[in-house]
Amino acid sequence: MMGWTDRHCRYFMRLISRHALLYTEMITAGALLHGDRDRLLGFHPQEKPLAIQLGGSHPTELAQCAAIAERYGYDEINLNVGCPSDRVQKGRYGACLMAEPKLIASCVAAMMETVSLPVTVKTRIGIDQRDRYEDLAHFVATIAAAGCRKLVIHARKAWLQGLSPKENRQIPPLRHDLVWRIKKDFPALEIVLNGGIGDLDEAERQLHHVDGVMIGRAAYHHPYLLAAVDRRFHGDSGPVKPREQIVDDMIPYIEEALAGNVRLNSITRHMLGLFHGVSGGRRWRRYLSEKAGKPGVAADLLQRAIDRRDDRMQSSLARQDQTSVADSDRLG
Ligand SMILES: Cc1cc2nc3c(=O)[nH]c(=O)nc-3n(C[C@H](O)[C@H](O)[C@H](O)COP(=O)(O)O)c2cc1C
Repeated sequence: MMGWTDRHCRYFMRLISRHALLYTEMITAGALLHGDRDRLLGFHPQEKPLAIQLGGSHPTELAQCAAIAERYGYDEINLNVGCPSDRVQKGRYGACLMAEPKLIASCVAAMMETVSLPVTVKTRIGIDQRDRYEDLAHFVATIAAAGCRKLVIHARKAWLQGLSPKENRQIPPLRHDLVWRIKKDFPALEIVLNGGIGDLDEAERQLHHVDGVMIGRAAYHHPYLLAAVDRRFHGDSGPVKPREQIVDDMIPYIEEALAGNVRLNSITRHMLGLFHGVSGGRRWRRYLSEKAGKPGVAADLLQRAIDRRDDRMQSSLARQDQTSVADSDRLG
């Protein structure tokens, strides 16, 4: 997710789940071929398993990018055919390419010829008036014929004009049933459903119909929901780390990043939701948001943010104690 799933975010997510497959932000072929590759592609080995998402529509360029990504050690190459933004359309990539299944098939084939990694596609269920199930099935059949074996399908169509990317993630109705139907009609393909999955119970229900689930916003805003993924979906009965342990485990990573001139809040911004829904969670979020952008702050800020949370817990415990003393006084 652009602006969200950068390497710091992914390192943090990986501390929460050892097995969930993580995806980079979309990286355009042009940027990768002409830009600063280490900055765009570099990742910590601990982030693996890690898929790179590419944006582009030129088979030769995408094949070159796939080869570079393979050398960097990515585990999957994913092509974005779902982003509806104006800028992306102007560059002729993203969701508008749903209208050109043959071109996508050529891109997939060119990448598959070049790398031995899985080449996958992330798409919508349709665009504009091209939203009949038959259009989607034709798209899937065309890229499957080129060798694509796995699709991630965001179960909403996209309007290419008139809606912002954000609105295109909210307004077109979710049609999970269409993704289930694709799985029924293409049983040999690995079909991963995306869109509107808010928790792991919902994810588990989806697995009756599809092979996998991709969670975007819910995982970003409430990252600790990933903590049960390994146990529930990957048969890993290893310990589930408490949130405080995840914070502790981030500290050496943060110290190293700060030494390399990374700003603290460019890492902690991904951690604001860690205590979502538990006592002191808002205080944690507020403290980090207010302090982590200040000059000269160090990694021990996280420990202070935890202490703030605990202060709150302690004072609420103290308040409870006082209330029960007062209650027993009254009753007595
Ligand atoms: C800030 C933001 C950036 C996104 N960037 C990308 C992207 O780079 N590539 C992509 O395939 N989807 C991107 N998406 C879409 C999500 O991957 C996902 O398809 C969408 O949010 C629906 O899933 P969800 O309901 O689980 O969030 C982005 C979403 C958000 C909120």
